[in-house]
Amino acid sequence: MSRAFKTILVTGGAGFIGSNFIHFLLEKADFDGRIVNLDALTYAGNLENLADAAEKFGGKRYFFEKADICDRAAVERIFAEYAPDAVVHLAAESHVDRSIHGPEAFVKTNVMGTFTLVDVARAAWKGRTDVLFHHVSTDEVFGSLGDSGYFTEATPYDPRSPYSASKAGSDHLVMAYRHTYGLPATLSNCSNNYGPYQFPEKLIPLMILNMLEDRSLPVYGDGRNVRDWIYVEDHNSAVWEIMKRGEAGRSYNIGGENEWENIRLLDRLVEIVAEESGKDLERLRALIVYVKDRPGHDRRYAIDCSRVKKELGWSRASSFDEGLRKTVRWYLDHAEWCARVRSGEYRKWLERNYSSR
Ligand code: NAD
Ligand code: TYD
Repeated sequence: MSRAFKTILVTGGAGFIGSNFIHFLLEKADFDGRIVNLDALTYAGNLENLADAAEKFGGKRYFFEKADICDRAAVERIFAEYAPDAVVHLAAESHVDRSIHGPEAFVKTNVMGTFTLVDVARAAWKGRTDVLFHHVSTDEVFGSLGDSGYFTEATPYDPRSPYSASKAGSDHLVMAYRHTYGLPATLSNCSNNYGPYQFPEKLIPLMILNMLEDRSLPVYGDGRNVRDWIYVEDHNSAVWEIMKRGEAGRSYNIGGENEWENIRLLDRLVEIVAEESGKDLERLRALIVYVKDRPGHDRRYAIDCSRVKKELGWSRASSFDEGLRKTVRWYLDHAEWCARVRSGEYRKWLERNYSSR
């Protein structure tokens, strides 16, 4: 069985993973239909990420709708106007540190926004089975691991930050709509992504830009928290396989099988930035500072992604070193993008919450 879609509604398409997903669908995937990008353009959403796609495909295969996923009337209008036969739901508040400073926006967008979307999809699709709602979520819903073990699809939920709690709520809503109303839905829980267009508040782009600007590299706690890293295009190719051939009602873990302690990752990143930028390696190393730990900082995430590999034949294409190098080059080549996304609203937020970055 392989699904084919005519019109895919991508929520959060102006963000990091969403804009990479739209590029992937338009340029690389076996898909020749239309894409509607629904995005509220928060601080994390940037249409510049898709300027080339809009120029090449705008009005033919690519459409943009500025809307909030909590705005039911707007979501209903977009469903009525474009009649999507698939939704890929990426729109979210996505940064753990922000969720600690201001959880309300996370509950609104991630919980209420997801509710609005599944509810409108259910009403619009009226029991159709040739459609799909794919919900993109995180491994953080499973909580924190000790030194051993992996999250599988059967791991009980144990979210511990306002971000992961709100994503857990959204996962449950999507699966409840499947169970109760038969909404054709799939779910994926992925580990930490990195790559082009990632907002420079997340670890890898933040560290790259701080190195380029000779700012300190703030490592939380003892630097030994572990994350599993995946190149964004590998995540997106897995999502696409699930959309085409995943079983409705089933969840799939996606991961890079690539665990790193934060401080070890930073050691490697410093070397790559020095090689690619010509900056002095020892001066970059000297920028590393240990700072106060994040409250409730999850110790280790690690994903068992054997289901998506075995059932759907997915595998990742990028090695970590290649992916990191591509990412560093991208940030070096996009200084204007970096300056623009860090001005305006984001700058004001930083000034309110941190003084030294
Ligand atoms: P991001 O913060 O870069 O982008 C989020 C996008 O959603 C932005 O374009 C923003 O404008 C939009 N948005 C926010 N609130 C909205 C609202 N109320 N209505 C409409 N649009 C809204 O996030 P990302 O890193 O690209 O993550 C995308 C999705 O993937 C999220 O659901 C996130 O939970 C999930 N995820 C992310 C990672 C990761 O490492 N980044 C890992 C696993 C899962
Ligand atoms: P982050 O990119 O915020 O992703 P998440 O919290 O969703 O995993 O952080 C990745 C790891 O890096 C996490 O253990 C927190 C740590 N970290 C730092 O040590 N310093 C920083 O400045 C940031 C942003 C993160």
